[in-house]
Amino acid sequence: MSSLSQFRNIEPRAFEGHWRSPANIAFVKYWGKKGHQIPANPSLSMTLKECYTETKISFVPGPFNVEVLFQGRREEKFALKIKSYLSTLLDEIPCINELQFKIDTMNTFPHGAGIASSASGLSALALCLTDYLYSQIEDKNLSHFYQMASNLSRLASGSACRSVYGGFVSWGQSELPYSSDEFATPFEVHSSLAHLRDTVLVISENEKTVSSRAGHDRMKEHPFADARFIQAKKNYSVMLSALKSGDMTTVGELLESEALTLHAMMMTSPDSYTLLRPHSLSAIELVRDFRNQTGIPVYFTLDAGPNLHLIYPESYKDKVSTFVAHELRPICSNIIDDECGKGPVRC
Ligand code: PMV
Repeated sequence: MSSLSQFRNIEPRAFEGHWRSPANIAFVKYWGKKGHQIPANPSLSMTLKECYTETKISFVPGPFNVEVLFQGRREEKFALKIKSYLSTLLDEIPCINELQFKIDTMNTFPHGAGIASSASGLSALALCLTDYLYSQIEDKNLSHFYQMASNLSRLASGSACRSVYGGFVSWGQSELPYSSDEFATPFEVHSSLAHLRDTVLVISENEKTVSSRAGHDRMKEHPFADARFIQAKKNYSVMLSALKSGDMTTVGELLESEALTLHAMMMTSPDSYTLLRPHSLSAIELVRDFRNQTGIPVYFTLDAGPNLHLIYPESYKDKVSTFVAHELRPICSNIIDDECGKGPVRC
């Protein structure tokens, strides 16, 4: 991969960028770091289609400053976060210190409720930034461009590095060719699993009480951390081959185990916390009963929040939709019908 240091001498110039970038849902979770934004285990995810962030960025030379409009309103909290992220890049990209950023961004889904809004938001920002950097150097290699966007996304939010590609994406050193801890790599899955659906059961739209950053931190003192990292590496390898061979049962069983392990880590961390809500547990029971009664391969996973993602092959769309409308809709505040998507687009 081309390194960030190639941007050391670029000039501060006026620029406008505009990207739409999707959220992703991890099938094997990244939870715990072994250095600055380096994952303790490899993870893999499916990129979504309908849950995305659209970000317009414009900047002009001037003293370093960041202004953010989110859903049309000034957002000081986001501006501070983005300012602090951009400041971490100053050693390698010093021209940032001489740019005034205006960022106008919107999500198609609730922010901070554990539907990977940081993945879509920060990958959209990193893609805009990469556009600027690549507009000033000779290298026009597209795969370098996406690796750099993935690397810059990772430095903002680990899971965001997987959102710069469509389909199924892996991040972290693993048996997959070209895998890296610094950027994500897309991979092909069996044709029967290439169009999986994701129905998101929004149990609560409230912003989560403990951020993912704080959650990763709590893994440092966690009594089960080493066992979890060993398990995650094994689950990664088994999940990767099940996705490649089209084995939906293994994919589904691991999906649920990974989701529950993520939340078990939160609940058993020295400073314990719970992001699941009573309705999350009711939904889990209803999904399991439905699967046992009908044989339909619909499985749940969870991100760092109370909301369930129902993952199933496209051919079961109508049957799952009827089940969701009758049995799950009453305990949800919203339902988002999503599916595997093709990745970010420049607007
Ligand atoms: O990317 P971060 O630092 O917000 O961590 C989020 C990690 C999970 O979303 C909980 C799991 C994952 O791999 O996406």
